[in-house]
Amino acid sequence: MLKECSLNSVCDKMEITFKVFRFNAETDYLPYYQDFTLEVSEDEVVLDILNRIKWDFDGSFSYRRSCRHGICGSCAIKVNSKAVLACKERVIDLYKIFGSNMTIEPQSKSRVVKDMIIDKKDFWSKYDSVKPYLVSEIDENPATEHLVSPEQYEELHEADTCIQCGCCYYSCPAVEVNENYTGPAALAKAYRFNFDPRDDAKHERLDIVNKLGSGIWDCVKCFECAEACPKGVDPIHKITALHTQTFKEGKAKSNVATRHAVFFKTSINQHGLLDEGLLVAYSEGLGVVKHIPEAISMLKKGKIVMPWNMPKSKNLAEVKKLVKISSTAKF
Ligand code: SF4
Ligand code: SF4
Ligand code: FES
Repeated sequence: MLKECSLNSVCDKMEITFKVFRFNAETDYLPYYQDFTLEVSEDEVVLDILNRIKWDFDGSFSYRRSCRHGICGSCAIKVNSKAVLACKERVIDLYKIFGSNMTIEPQSKSRVVKDMIIDKKDFWSKYDSVKPYLVSEIDENPATEHLVSPEQYEELHEADTCIQCGCCYYSCPAVEVNENYTGPAALAKAYRFNFDPRDDAKHERLDIVNKLGSGIWDCVKCFECAEACPKGVDPIHKITALHTQTFKEGKAKSNVATRHAVFFKTSINQHGLLDEGLLVAYSEGLGVVKHIPEAISMLKKGKIVMPWNMPKSKNLAEVKKLVKISSTAKF
């Protein structure tokens, strides 16, 4: 006898209603959703559901898949807005989060070609822009191997596991509002080669990813990419490492983002607290004028203080030690 599922128990079968996004850019004026209520067993992944919908109900239903082993990146979609690899994500795990109603959608509805299939042109052109390959003058007949130590490889390993699925890219709010932003996947790839001891294009790549408006300074540090990545690449930490590398390599230019980083550290070091008023003034330079009305309102409400009234943390000595230990680049 089948054991019925509840949110907290192991079970044999669950009845789930999948609300599936449908759109054919060639024939449809607007997208629509179709409901499929299916009995799902504990060992089925989302790709099994896509297959059942196509094979049992509608042969025109379209989606990408290839390896079925979480390594080609082609089956990435969203379930209840959560980025997933359809061949890796077990339905029961989603059921434990969302219950028995699941909306299946493509990674990006504005880029849909057909149903789950999207046009990833922007993703690939940004990926291409960071020189996502090793640049090295290689001796065709080397006398010895060009070794990478285990410690050096450890630094690259996470970034190396990227399968270009786009889960991070299509979950990134900075990509949504800024079409020029390179995005987490390509920036994690820039990290991958910039931290490879065999690579010779570090400075060239830093010039590319260091541009204001499209590069590392346009990340808003929301951590969505780390949350969305099915391979544990953790793009935001790679972007942060690139921030530090631009300072270390003398590539950081004075702009609103780099001044923000510099003052952030200065304020924490001086007060153990963030002087939010002066942070904006220092980062924006003359541009601060446009913030004067908000600054006055914040001053009145006690949200910021004048610099001479800035309090100090009672743990300042401890904070200073922590800043010293964690600082890897001179600003
Ligand atoms: S942390 Fe940065 S790159 Fe990652 S999703 Fe947020 S804005 Fe995008
Ligand atoms: S970083 Fe992760 S989520 Fe982004 S493309 Fe690579 S594997 Fe996919
Ligand atoms: S089919 Fe290849 S990652 Fe899912």
